[in-house]
Amino acid sequence: MPAAKDIKITKITKSKINDLDWNNLPFGKYFTDYMLEADYANGEWVSVAIKPYQPLTLDPALTALHYGQSIFEGIKAYNNVDGETYIFRPHENLIRFNKSADRMCMPEVPEWLFIDGMRQLIELEKQWIPNKENHALYVRPFMFSTDALLGVRPSLTYKFMILLSPTGPYFAAPMKIFVEEKYTRAAPGGVGFSKNAGNYGGSLRAATEAQKMGYDQVLWTDAHEHKWLQEVGMMNVFFLIDNKAITPSLEEGTILKGVTRDSVITVLNDLGISVEERPINIDELVQAYESGRLQEVFGTGTAATIALIQELFYNGKQMLFDVQQCEIANKVKNILNEVRYGLLPDTHNWLVKV
Ligand code: COI
Repeated sequence: MPAAKDIKITKITKSKINDLDWNNLPFGKYFTDYMLEADYANGEWVSVAIKPYQPLTLDPALTALHYGQSIFEGIKAYNNVDGETYIFRPHENLIRFNKSADRMCMPEVPEWLFIDGMRQLIELEKQWIPNKENHALYVRPFMFSTDALLGVRPSLTYKFMILLSPTGPYFAAPMKIFVEEKYTRAAPGGVGFSKNAGNYGGSLRAATEAQKMGYDQVLWTDAHEHKWLQEVGMMNVFFLIDNKAITPSLEEGTILKGVTRDSVITVLNDLGISVEERPINIDELVQAYESGRLQEVFGTGTAATIALIQELFYNGKQMLFDVQQCEIANKVKNILNEVRYGLLPDTHNWLVKV
């Protein structure tokens, strides 16, 4: 059986790090010197290697390109104030990755490959972690099918990889959101809960149309009535009504089980703010807004952490929020940052040392 100690490392000849402009790190644009790559065949992960970042040579009949067996995760690594490197809750991402894999008929990735592989890769690349507020080393594990075949069936072979990207926040400014009533992201029985590439490709049309109208993203509604709220863009969504936080529940399987979502629920509970995970529809939201009870709306995700929302547009009506007054979202965001930077104790054991 292969194991973490078998990961072969091929060294670079020259680092690209001096080319990096640390003051300009858009999300996911720059990559570090190394990547991890592993192949799955005959029921085993083999050829596990950390090697110089480089293009792949792929067969044009690759099933991932034609039929979309392709999943990913997003994780962040940080340096704390003592200069030690930590990864934020990577085991949660491993669990979700393997749920996505199961839904897409792909093999499981074992912990030694996902977690230990990631730790070895980050250990080599620590100097790429930005030491700047709201910046991090974004970790992108992904897997795709590699059979070269036009028949539609689960592939027998796969590639698993990890890339690292020094990055700033995904959304720097507060967002303007269009409530989507035409397009659908996910329906019960579908793949909405999984982090498969197609969910993101399928969301582009709605996002592009919203952007043409001056919005940053859409608030997804359910497939049947276009009333029940699901996610905002690529993030989970929270509403603060009457000092209570409400976030759509996961039972239907249409929403991603966000790691940041879970962390935010925990921090809200720690602050004594009650959290309801339940179905919530747009009419309830409009009523709460009109009666002055809808206090804050924010998105949560690994890439964005917490993204404040300044406007929701629904059915010809603008709902506006003063983001300077979004006390709770800002407080939760600061607490999460302080835990990551080692300024607050990690009471929930969220940090994994590299
Ligand atoms: C993340 O928050 O890591 C995501 O998955 C969003 C990503 C598609 C940019």
